[in-house]
Amino acid sequence: MKGNILVTGGAGYIGSHTCKALKQAGYEPITYDNMVYGHEWAVKWGPLIKGDILDGEKLDQVFKQYEPLAVLHFAAFAYVGESVSDPEKYYRNNVAGTLSLLSAMRRARCKNIVFSSTCATYGVPTELPLREDHPQKPINPYGWTKLMMEQTLRDFDHAYGIRHACLRYFNAAGADPDCEIGEEHDPETHLIPLVIQATQGLRGHVEIYGTDYDTPDGTCIRDYIHVTDLAVAHIQALEYLQDKDESLIVNLGTGNGQTVRQVIRAVEKVSGKVTPVKEGPRRPGDPPGLYAYADKAYKLLGWKPQYGDIETIVGTAWNWHEKKR
Ligand SMILES: NC(=O)c1ccc[n+]([C@@H]2O[C@H](COP(=O)([O-])OP(=O)(O)OC[C@H]3O[C@@H](n4cnc5c(N)ncnc54)[C@H](O)[C@@H]3O)[C@@H](O)[C@H]2O)c1
Repeated sequence: MKGNILVTGGAGYIGSHTCKALKQAGYEPITYDNMVYGHEWAVKWGPLIKGDILDGEKLDQVFKQYEPLAVLHFAAFAYVGESVSDPEKYYRNNVAGTLSLLSAMRRARCKNIVFSSTCATYGVPTELPLREDHPQKPINPYGWTKLMMEQTLRDFDHAYGIRHACLRYFNAAGADPDCEIGEEHDPETHLIPLVIQATQGLRGHVEIYGTDYDTPDGTCIRDYIHVTDLAVAHIQALEYLQDKDESLIVNLGTGNGQTVRQVIRAVEKVSGKVTPVKEGPRRPGDPPGLYAYADKAYKLLGWKPQYGDIETIVGTAWNWHEKKR
């Protein structure tokens, strides 16, 4: 065993898939989750400690008991719309919560953190694909909480030598290819599960927000990245921090955007069914295209998505949703 890794938010979607990857790589994942959105069934590869990142005393106990080599920090709230209507909730959890975690790391002399950042820190692209040096101008409080933490991490690196890997995910999607775990958000806002649920007959239809964008078929383009590929990137980032003792910031996306209609077609192909669709107006604040320049992660980490094509991604998600019906 290579050692313990503290995984905040390890009972959630991306965190739980990363716990599996950690275990397979020889680490012991220690999940720390307040279970607001986490699932007990998703914690299969190490212990679950129920606790909040705002609870410094509890964090101190956990650092003392498990002496983790590093922290993978997934715990956050991530509903963009809610962050607009209730920003306090987001700044408290994502900003004050992360600061509380960083303080506990300092007390425990834990020096490495992998942070779940997001393409939402870029705001509306002025150039595509989005490179890591694209200006960061978030258009909602959720994006701001993540950008503030990126800056905090830079300052903590400089002042206290805490090294970080900021991983800016694009759209996490798909499920564990062995179908042991998968995506279950409540409420669900992500496109692929919504399309699948509509195709399964579990919701009336899926709505397409805007069909008149300047894209090949008029619908928005996003970069869907398989959750297992994200999980593997976390292991590589962790080992980069351990080996190189220097921080890094990288995009995690495939570099290939898919339109909403292409995603729907992929679900129809994989399932052999027709998806009920309703076309609606654009949503404010939705840029037409968001996709990554993905080469930096390859150059620095050797990371390359293994489940890159949309039908494979959707296929793993479909299998998971069928299994849990
Ligand atoms: N899903 C995506 O496409 C996506 C894209 C970019 C970034 N991210 C980021 O990745 C991370 C994981 O996202 P996810 O989709 O797995 O979300 P998720 O909601 O499934 O997982 C987050 C987990 O964190 C836990 N949590 C929240 N606040 C906590 C607190 N104060 N203390 C302890 N635990 C707490 C929740 O209970 C949940 O289990 C988040 O930080 C999110 O902002 C996600």
